[in-house]
Amino acid sequence: MNFIELSFFILLSLFVLLLLFFLYTTIKKPLDHIEEFIRHISQGNFEKHLSSHGSRRFRTLAISLNEMARHLDYVISRLKLEKQKLISVLQGMHDGVLAIDSDRRILIYNESIKKILDIRDDDIYKAKFYDIVREPNVVASLESVLKNQKTVHEQIRIISDKEKFYEVIVSSLATLDPEAPGAVAIFHDITELKSLEQMRVDFVTNVSHEFKTPLTALRGYSDTLLQGGLQDEKNREKFVHMISDNVLRVENLVEDLLTISKLESAETILTDKIDTENLVRQVLRDLEYQIKQKCITVNQKLEEKNLNADPVKIHRALMNLVDNAIKCVPSGGSIEIESLKKGGKIILSVSDNGPGIESKHVARIFERFYRVDEARGRESGGSGLGLAIVKHIAMIHGGTVAVESTVGQGSSFKIILPQK
Ligand SMILES: Nc1ncnc2c1ncn2[C@@H]1O[C@H](COP(=O)(O)OP(=O)(O)OP(=O)(O)O)[C@@H](O)[C@H]1O
Ligand SMILES: [Mg+2]
Repeated sequence: MNFIELSFFILLSLFVLLLLFFLYTTIKKPLDHIEEFIRHISQGNFEKHLSSHGSRRFRTLAISLNEMARHLDYVISRLKLEKQKLISVLQGMHDGVLAIDSDRRILIYNESIKKILDIRDDDIYKAKFYDIVREPNVVASLESVLKNQKTVHEQIRIISDKEKFYEVIVSSLATLDPEAPGAVAIFHDITELKSLEQMRVDFVTNVSHEFKTPLTALRGYSDTLLQGGLQDEKNREKFVHMISDNVLRVENLVEDLLTISKLESAETILTDKIDTENLVRQVLRDLEYQIKQKCITVNQKLEEKNLNADPVKIHRALMNLVDNAIKCVPSGGSIEIESLKKGGKIILSVSDNGPGIESKHVARIFERFYRVDEARGRESGGSGLGLAIVKHIAMIHGGTVAVESTVGQGSSFKIILPQK
C-alpha cells in the first residue's frame, strides 16, 4: 500500500467513524432515550420527562411524547378518582349489590351483599355466582335475566341469626360485549317494613277479637230477652245488666283505641307544672271505690314534689298503673306510690304485693292487647291496652317505662321521665 492509498484509507476510516458518531448522537441516543421513556410509561411512571435531543424531528417527537405522557397521567388519575368514588359509593351502600357477566363470573360486589348472603371469602371476583349465592330464587332470577334481559322483582326471606326480608331487583347489565350482557342484583332490606305490615295485620286481628267477645255476649243476652226472656221476671233484670256491662266494655275499648291513636299522632304535648301530691290524691279519689272494696292499703312516698309534664296524660298513665295494681293485689293487699329524682330523671313508680309476673311475660307486657292470662284478662273487662297507653305517654314525654317483678312477691312499674 503506497502513501496515497494509506492516506485514503485513513481518511475513509475517519469518515466512517465520524458518520457512526453522527448516527449515534442523532439517532441511536435519542432512540435509547425514547425506549427508556416508553418503558417508564408502561410501568405507570409518568414523572419522567423526555429531553429534546437529536434532530428537529426527534425534538418534535419528544415534545409530542411528553405531551402524550402528561395527558395519559391526567386521564389515568381522573379514572382512578372516578373508580375510587364508585367504590366508596358501592361500599357505603346499605343495599347489597352483586353484578355478574354472561359467563356467570362475579364482576362487582359490595360489603353489604357479603353480610346479606353470609359470604365468608375475602375475594370472590372471578368466582361463579352460583357457588356463592345459595338462595335458589335469586339464582333463578339471575339466570332468567341473563337469558331474557327482563328485570325481575321479588321478595325473599333469609334466615341466618335473624329472620330478614329483602326486596331483590335483578336487571340486565351492559358489558363491553353488547352480545353478552351480564346481570346486576340489588338487595334492599324491607324487614322493618314487613314487621310494620305484620303489626298492622295483628292489630286489626286483635281489635276484631277484642270486639267479638262483648258483641257475642250482647247478641246472646238480647236474643234471650227477645225469645221470651222479657217475660222471665226472675232473670230479665240480670240480662239487662249483662247487656249494660258489655256495652261498657265496648265503650272502654273504643275509648282506649282512640286514646292510643291520638297519642300516636300527637306531635306536640302540653307541659305544665304538676304537683305530685295533688296528682296522686286525684288518682286515688278516682279509684276510691275499688280501693275500699278490696280493703287495700295505699302508701305514698312522694320525695319529688314537682313534675313538668302533660297533666291529663300523666294522670291517665298513673291511673292505669294504680288500676292494674288494684286489680292484681289480693283483698287486704297493699300498694306503694313513689316519686323520686335519680340521675337527672324523675321516676313515678307503683309497686304492689300482688302475684307478680313471670319473666317470660315481662318483656311483652307493654305490648297492645298483651295479657298474662288471656282469658282472665278479657273476663275482667280490661281492654289490654292500659300498659300500652302508659308506654306511649312516657314516650311522648321523651321518657321510658320499666317493670320489675318477682312471682309471689309483687311488681313495681315505673314511668321514667326526663327532668324538665
Ligand atoms: N301490677 C300487676 N301485677 C301483675 N300483673 C299485672 C300488673 N299490671 C298488669 N299486669 C298484667 O298485665 C296485663 C296487661 O295490663 P294492661 O293494663 O295493659 O291491660 P288490662 O289491665 O288487662 O286492661 P285495661 O288496662 O285496658 O283495663 C294485665 O292483664 C295483667 O295480666
Ligand atoms: Mg290495665
